Amino acid sequence: MAKRPRKIGNKKKETRRIKTEPSCVFEKDSLDILRAALIELEKSFSNLPSAANAIKDKVKFEKTILGVAERLKDNYPYFHPLYAGQMLKPPHPIARAAYMLSLWINPNNHALDGGRASSAMEREAVAEIAKMFGWQTHVGHLTGGGTMANLEALWVAGQLNPGKKIIASEQAHYTHSRVSGVLGLKVELVPCDAKGRMDIEELRKTLDHDDVGTVVVTVGTTAAGAVDPLPQILELRKQYGFRLHADAAYGGYFVLADNLDHETKKSFDRLGEVDSIVVDPHKHGFQPYGCGCVIFRDPTVARFYKHDSPYTYFTSKELHLGEISLECSRAGASAVALWATQKFLPLIRGGEFAKSLDVSREAALSLYRKLKADKRFITAFPPELDILVWAPAARKASEASELSRAFFNEIAKRNLHLALAELPVKFFGTQLERDRETITCLRSVLMKPEHLNWVDKIWEIMDAAADVVIRKD
Ligand SMILES: Cc1ncc(COP(=O)(O)O)c(C=O)c1O
Repeated sequence: MAKRPRKIGNKKKETRRIKTEPSCVFEKDSLDILRAALIELEKSFSNLPSAANAIKDKVKFEKTILGVAERLKDNYPYFHPLYAGQMLKPPHPIARAAYMLSLWINPNNHALDGGRASSAMEREAVAEIAKMFGWQTHVGHLTGGGTMANLEALWVAGQLNPGKKIIASEQAHYTHSRVSGVLGLKVELVPCDAKGRMDIEELRKTLDHDDVGTVVVTVGTTAAGAVDPLPQILELRKQYGFRLHADAAYGGYFVLADNLDHETKKSFDRLGEVDSIVVDPHKHGFQPYGCGCVIFRDPTVARFYKHDSPYTYFTSKELHLGEISLECSRAGASAVALWATQKFLPLIRGGEFAKSLDVSREAALSLYRKLKADKRFITAFPPELDILVWAPAARKASEASELSRAFFNEIAKRNLHLALAELPVKFFGTQLERDRETITCLRSVLMKPEHLNWVDKIWEIMDAAADVVIRKD
């Protein structure tokens, strides 16, 4: 993290110390520490005959890597607080350093033969995640991302309830429909209410008419950060007896947050009662991409993964992670980075990591309040987590959609990068004439801990862009 986040509610400290020199955007101190750690790691292999893999042609190497730097310039500044568009949170320096350090070993967490230390680190890190949801026993592992993690959860659901339907909300991530297709499972999407949450009455109707095996509860939708009403869904489970899977890929870590509103908190408080959970460390957990996680409350579902391999599981009778995962080779580096991050920022209530989530939500609320107080904008529901959606004020949904695109382009010229989303007009209440069912609106994910300190700057840019794009009357 570049800067310590400002304390919530401490108005006096709102003065910003924003450095804009290009030399200040990347953290580099960790490179020296990484070098020292690499030398330390090398010591344990010093009994081997020398085999250092020196770079043969340093000139070519340098030219190539500088060429890479050149190519990488063609990116939005995802690492910078003025990038507040998609769900992108830079890896923590400790995650980056640990990941890089492990690359000199390049462990593979498929079998213990390929990644002994990193497999143990994965099991410890995943157990910490399970504990965060109150699970003392579980079975689970890291995956390439949220898609693979959800695929495994739905695959197990399908094994337990063959032929029965998967139900998710229409705001659930599209991955559920896609992976259900891959798995040959029937899926149905139920409508949402005006707050983007699964509509309970619609769910009940579906349960009355369909043979439902599993309900997917989304704990933080991708578009608007809405949290499906878990307590009511758990009540329905008593009556209808379905399996419950929580897609908390984006929102799961907010179980540690202290500043959720009452309704949202009630859902998080009962997250431990579902059957499986997906949470993505590569979203809110400060990890490089390639790190999702799926956990099952009932460890005996490991039986579905059971298989043998004529060439894999030789060196140990202990569990090899490949025996409880659909993917075979997986980056041990991901486990090492996650383990290091959780040592540095433990997953505990009131800890530094938990507070960083409070800060993200406060950033979203702070920007929401500014938008709500300004007649040039219309807002949807208040952010439940740290995503908010809004649009320029207009008479009709079609006009607001056009203005959203113009505003998006105008702020990009000013170095502020937001996102666009196509969402139901009902999310905006009755503020707009509904000449279309959806509205193209602006979407912002304020998930960097620095964002709270940058809300004033973000607003300054939005204010200037609004003067150009949006009518004041
Ligand atoms: C709620 C939710 N589920 C699943 C996914 C898919 O995750 P991934 O992109 O890591 O495959 C996302 C991605 O944004 C998400 O927000």
